Amino acid sequence: MSDRLPEQLHNQGGRGPYRYNRGSPMVERTKNPQPTPRPKKQPTDPAENLTAILSQKVVGQPAATRVIVPYIQMFQAGLAPEGRPVGVFLLLGPTGTGKAKTVEALADILHGSEKNVLKVDCGEFQMEHEVAKLIGAPPGYLGHRETQPMLTQQKLNAVTTDRCGLSLVLFDEIEKAAPSLTRLLLGVLDKGVLRLGDNSTVNFEKSLVFLTSNLGAREMMKEINPDFGFQAGAGMERHDLTSKLQNIALVAVRKKFSPEFINRIDCIITYQPLTVESLSAILDHQISDLQNHVNTRLGPRCFTIEVPFESRQWLLRKGTSPEYGARELNRTIHRNLTQPLATMVATGQVEPASRVRVETAEDDESLVLRTTGPDEAEIPAHPTVLLVDDNRDLLHFLERLMAEAGWKLLTAESASGARKLLTSEKPNAALLDYMLPDGNGVELGVQLRQIASRMQVIVMTGSVLPPEEEAICEEHDFPVLRKPFLASDVMNQIRSRLTPAAGAGAR
Ligand SMILES: Nc1ncnc2c1ncn2[C@@H]1O[C@H](COP(=O)(O)OP(=O)(O)OP(=O)(O)O)[C@@H](O)[C@H]1O
Ligand SMILES: [Mg+2]
Repeated sequence: MSDRLPEQLHNQGGRGPYRYNRGSPMVERTKNPQPTPRPKKQPTDPAENLTAILSQKVVGQPAATRVIVPYIQMFQAGLAPEGRPVGVFLLLGPTGTGKAKTVEALADILHGSEKNVLKVDCGEFQMEHEVAKLIGAPPGYLGHRETQPMLTQQKLNAVTTDRCGLSLVLFDEIEKAAPSLTRLLLGVLDKGVLRLGDNSTVNFEKSLVFLTSNLGAREMMKEINPDFGFQAGAGMERHDLTSKLQNIALVAVRKKFSPEFINRIDCIITYQPLTVESLSAILDHQISDLQNHVNTRLGPRCFTIEVPFESRQWLLRKGTSPEYGARELNRTIHRNLTQPLATMVATGQVEPASRVRVETAEDDESLVLRTTGPDEAEIPAHPTVLLVDDNRDLLHFLERLMAEAGWKLLTAESASGARKLLTSEKPNAALLDYMLPDGNGVELGVQLRQIASRMQVIVMTGSVLPPEEEAICEEHDFPVLRKPFLASDVMNQIRSRLTPAAGAGAR
């Protein structure tokens, strides 16, 4: 689904005349580019779409997603100002709350991989002489030819893709860097240009620059968890806590950085401690990521991981820590699920296409992983596919191709026709057009899943899905195919999702 975003954003052309406001240091919305006011529920706004998708990946940080998205749109619309980066953000807040995750999630959405980020670990540049590693030593210095600068135009361009020309640059833990790095950055933030040791320049005009920092984090911890053993921010209203943390962050920032540096930052965003609901959503993501990882890495040897509600609650109980945010949850999942699973695979205890059920032990102290045998019924050699679309040409075309591949195609031109078919047939997958004469494909997909929980559902659309529908697709793991597409794309998509246990979700 993420493949389509940059295109969608382009499609909106010059819409959204964002005001550009320089020298706006706070997250206060008045200082950020503001989308033009519009009625709340305009369904096909790509900004809302991107915000919705980003906030599914970065859970529980609505302020961050809302603030960053308009800058991306400004770039996509070709309206980003010249002579400076597209946007400069300072991300603050307690550990493990999604600061770095935000940049990775954006890279995934815009470029198709979380790795498309030029990351500078500022902890590696604590000493003045180390900063030369970043920009290369000037000519005349001994060995200057051997020092390859880390920040070159080539490296900046290497993190862009054909889909999107915006580079995401992350200076992680900026407070650890030597002062000369902050001075260098001043030039980048101010003019969008970095001068290297050999006097060549790197242009940051097509970049979003993210600075993360733990400034004030310790004081924030005291506020969140004044007395260890008590609940996070006990007794305090959430919005009180939010503004307290923001104040702590800003005081720490003002103490550390010069006003001219702060003035060149577009937004300072304070990340909030994660609530139990957010951690629960993150846990669900982590488990589906683990399943996807198993599917892609093990291919035909993959299996289904089934984590019932009680075991999820167990992981949440053990992994919820106000001190370490989602990092503790990640560690808990790793220790209690990923590692034991890896041991089982390595020692040949998991057969291809089997199920691994994760249960809580009797004493509630650990998780127990049990395997059950392969479920042959789930691996159809010749799947049956239900196609619901009133486009007869597409129906005929796919019918011919699938017949050649030995697949069976059932067709319906409306949602009611599809529901009727299901009374006598059991398709393995359904390919549903979003616009149906008597409903929409997403709604129908949800209904079909209620009838046949294992059915793979793919939604097709000729335009952008409304954000609510996008969210439903994400939630139910319905991939969305943008028309026009190649017939082979559809067949591959169905094939990959019909491999044993693929996308079974194990919820
Ligand atoms: N808000 C969130 N939404 C989704 N996942 C999250 C969130 N916060 C943390 N995580 C998970 O926890 C991991 C660590 O988070 P991240 O690296 O973003 O922390 P951070 O805020 O940069 O913390 P630190 O200040 O310690 O560097 C992420 O890789 C992700 O798996
Ligand atoms: Mg971090």
